[in-house]
Amino acid sequence: MFRIKTLQDCQTAHKNYREDADRFWLELANDFSWATKPTKTLEGSFEAGNVKWFSDGTLNITVNALDRHLLRTPNKIAFYFEANDPQETVRSFTYKQTLERVSQFANLLKQRGVKKGDVVCFYMSMVPELIFGALACARIGAVHSIVFGGFSASALASRIQDSAAKILITNDEGLRGDKKVPLKKMADEALASCPSVATVLVLQRTHGEVAMQPERDEFLLENLDRQSVVCEPEIMKSEDPLFILYTSGSTGKPKGLVHSTAGYMLWTAYTFQNVFQYKEGDVFWCTADLGWITGHSYMAYGPLLCGATQVIFEGVPQWPDAGRFWQVIDKHKVTHFYTAPTAIRSLMTQDISLVTKQNLSSLKVLGSVGEPINEEAWQWYNNYVGHNNCPIVDTWWQTETGGILISSLAGITPSLPTIATKPLPGIEPQLMTENDEGPLCIRRPWPGMARTIYKDHERYLQTYFATYPGFYFTGDGARVDKDGNYRIMGRIDDVVNVSGHRIGTAEVEDAVNLHGALVESAVIGVPHEIKGQGLVAFAISTVPGLASSQVLMEVNEILQKQIGPIAKLERLFLVSGLPKTRSGKIMRRILRKAFEQDRKTLGDTSTLVNPEVVDEVYSVCLLERI
Ligand code: WT7
Repeated sequence: MFRIKTLQDCQTAHKNYREDADRFWLELANDFSWATKPTKTLEGSFEAGNVKWFSDGTLNITVNALDRHLLRTPNKIAFYFEANDPQETVRSFTYKQTLERVSQFANLLKQRGVKKGDVVCFYMSMVPELIFGALACARIGAVHSIVFGGFSASALASRIQDSAAKILITNDEGLRGDKKVPLKKMADEALASCPSVATVLVLQRTHGEVAMQPERDEFLLENLDRQSVVCEPEIMKSEDPLFILYTSGSTGKPKGLVHSTAGYMLWTAYTFQNVFQYKEGDVFWCTADLGWITGHSYMAYGPLLCGATQVIFEGVPQWPDAGRFWQVIDKHKVTHFYTAPTAIRSLMTQDISLVTKQNLSSLKVLGSVGEPINEEAWQWYNNYVGHNNCPIVDTWWQTETGGILISSLAGITPSLPTIATKPLPGIEPQLMTENDEGPLCIRRPWPGMARTIYKDHERYLQTYFATYPGFYFTGDGARVDKDGNYRIMGRIDDVVNVSGHRIGTAEVEDAVNLHGALVESAVIGVPHEIKGQGLVAFAISTVPGLASSQVLMEVNEILQKQIGPIAKLERLFLVSGLPKTRSGKIMRRILRKAFEQDRKTLGDTSTLVNPEVVDEVYSVCLLERI
């Protein structure tokens, strides 16, 4: 695998890219096992929205993630499965066992009629079978669509409807701390409005009772065990879709971003290797759920492509106590720990002995992802977890980017608190500003970028390439210092980052408006000590004299049903009007300022059709604070 081992290597990589980008990419591509080696690199452009990479190559990504390692290290552990309950025996899977299980899963999918190009939906908790299932899809050229197990039945239904998945794989119940999540029950609810799904495979994780529909549902494991452990890989074209992953945008329903096979493979492996500096014998642990892009890129694909050993964790950081992360690091001698600032912020408020009593000396590299990391959290992570001895990689990227674009390289380029630092070789960021802070764009295509929005290429073009023609627009704002270090300031569109998860305000507003007494609402993100940002709604009611606390409770029930627990509102303010421009756009900026009671930087309100509501929102926020 292409390895940057020193600062000199890093500079050389940047230089090689600048001097001959085609050669740079082909050299990276050469590290993989292809059925047909590509001769082409980048084709198409941002302007035309038709980017392709390595288009004349053919391959199977699972051959690269699994078969290839079997030649050399068949008995190396691919995964330690750390169950929710710390008492449960750790299950481990070697590369050979992983390939066998993936092959069995692939054979089962084939037997159930899944063909190349079909969409397979997963709605599971963090169990090894989820990874095996995703890789099984890749083995046979099916497209996986993993829906986070924390989403509600209704959120699942809209994702299945959009992708027209033929088959759904779920588990009876998911285990999260002392709670059981009734996944199969919610799946049944969703499937009532999803006629495309003809088959449901159910993994029995808890053996809790579930209703099975005889023509549609079957248990997974008994069927898996019967399958052959050999499955010939389907040879795919570089640009064939590998998976769909839904993510929220500033408008409308969630977008099904489509990632390609070869470009994504190259990007996750290249970034995993070089950002984390994984070495033989290291144990990597990414705490993300497979339902998010972090789990896709830095659990299912990047680490396996590099032959790494990983911990996958089913549970939650606070159970049985808030020392669980540190216990797991100690238990599995984790060398690389990759988590989100929100987790750090919630754990740093706990009894410090939970951290200090564990032996964390195995740790070599710490990672942060999903949201800006604040100074305090960074310092705490550095001191108490890293013992001032582990470089912290603050990795900036997005569902759309497929993998990390801006980050330090562990131990090679400097880590700076709260600053993602520099682009990886091959990435050209551009701030759309005259000075040092502005909208963050990327100037040139890179292999790992999403190629389209499933069945809505027009929306893809509009969302990412219309704002700044010729550039990919990230939706984030950033600041760059004189040395070229980037600090990500956060979203500048109508997207809120709650605990490292992206939530579109429009989606939340649609759900809030379902409340019978509300006619219209506007949702904003406000600073939150643990979550980074929390959601706050301003809503217009038709019923006079309602108590906002009561409405808040009711709205949160709706949100739980429509989206899931992550969309919970912190506050709700009842108002008689929302600040709007002449074209009918809600000026959320005014609501944010009102929430902060900041009048100084309120700015121009003359474009409002209803300037009188400004005073009202300020006073409602003030009153409700007391
Ligand atoms: C948004 C992408 C990256 C995978 C997980 C989230 C924010 C992500 C950082 C970081 C500051 C970050 C951005 C980005 N973000 N990483 N290191 N520093 N902000 O993926 O759900 O697609 O969200 O997360 O705002 O646009 P996502």
